[in-house]
Amino acid sequence: MTALLTVDNLKVSYPTRTGVIEAVRGVSFTLDRERLGIVGESGSGKSQTGRAIMGLTPKHGIVTADKLDFNGIDLIQASAKERRLLRGKRIAMVLQDPKYSLDPVMSIGRQICETLRTHEKVSKAEATERALAMLEAVQIRDPKRVFDLYPHEVSGGMGQRAMIAMMLIAGPELLIADEPTSALDVTVQLDVLKILDKLVSERGMGLIFVSHDLRLVSSFCDRVIVMYAGRIVEELRASDLKNAQHPYTQGLLNCMPQIGEDRHPLPVLDRKPEWAA
Ligand SMILES: Nc1ncnc2c1ncn2[C@@H]1O[C@H](COP(=O)(O)OP(=O)(O)O)[C@@H](O)[C@H]1O
Ligand SMILES: [Mg+2]
Repeated sequence: MTALLTVDNLKVSYPTRTGVIEAVRGVSFTLDRERLGIVGESGSGKSQTGRAIMGLTPKHGIVTADKLDFNGIDLIQASAKERRLLRGKRIAMVLQDPKYSLDPVMSIGRQICETLRTHEKVSKAEATERALAMLEAVQIRDPKRVFDLYPHEVSGGMGQRAMIAMMLIAGPELLIADEPTSALDVTVQLDVLKILDKLVSERGMGLIFVSHDLRLVSSFCDRVIVMYAGRIVEELRASDLKNAQHPYTQGLLNCMPQIGEDRHPLPVLDRKPEWAA
């Protein structure tokens, strides 16, 4: 059986006047219907990896791979039109801040309905019914009321849920969640994670969960990939984190504060040039 997603030697680079920026430098992994975490500090290439899979690399970026295969579809060879059809329908992406992904001048319910209707031929009444059910599935208590609200009228946590509903309404097989909870309070973060978790197990989706928070990722995912300077430095089962081999992963683990601990001085993550080689 082939994997849901196969990424082999993925590279993303940006030519600039002063040279080429290599954002992703040969990333390889496979994903089935499971939860895969990608962690690493800011700038390590996590989002660029997600965007390349999604087909959302900015125009001036160059994406190459020995293989980038989604369910037998060669994403490198696929036309812009084919990729547009995949996006939202079969592969969806949830971003850190719903403010940038929700349309400010359209009610939440209408946005979800329109997303559905671009991918499926359904009547207005059926779209409304499914949008309400989806809002309920992301645990919005009063879906009928929220349906008519505009993005600025809801809290960050509610906006994030609305966005998850919008991303999931067409029933994607792969969901890429790029720091979906980073802008939220800790308690709301956990709620959103629980919702994602439930949807992944109920719908049998594959999930790529991107975060800089190693602890969060390991509590939530089956497997974790650790990225540093555009490369994978380590891949682990989440339950096996304490046996991490790479000093960068150990550094990330060390930087996680423990409750009740008094730390003077604060640990600093040290970096060795050879890790980026
Ligand atoms: N549009 C762009 N043009 C040039 N370089 C970019 C662009 N977007 C991202 N990069 C570079 O790619 C690297 C990885 O970025 P990113 O994937 O967003 O990191 P992360 O999500 O891990 O914080 C960054 O160092 C950044 O400089
Ligand atoms: Mg990012």
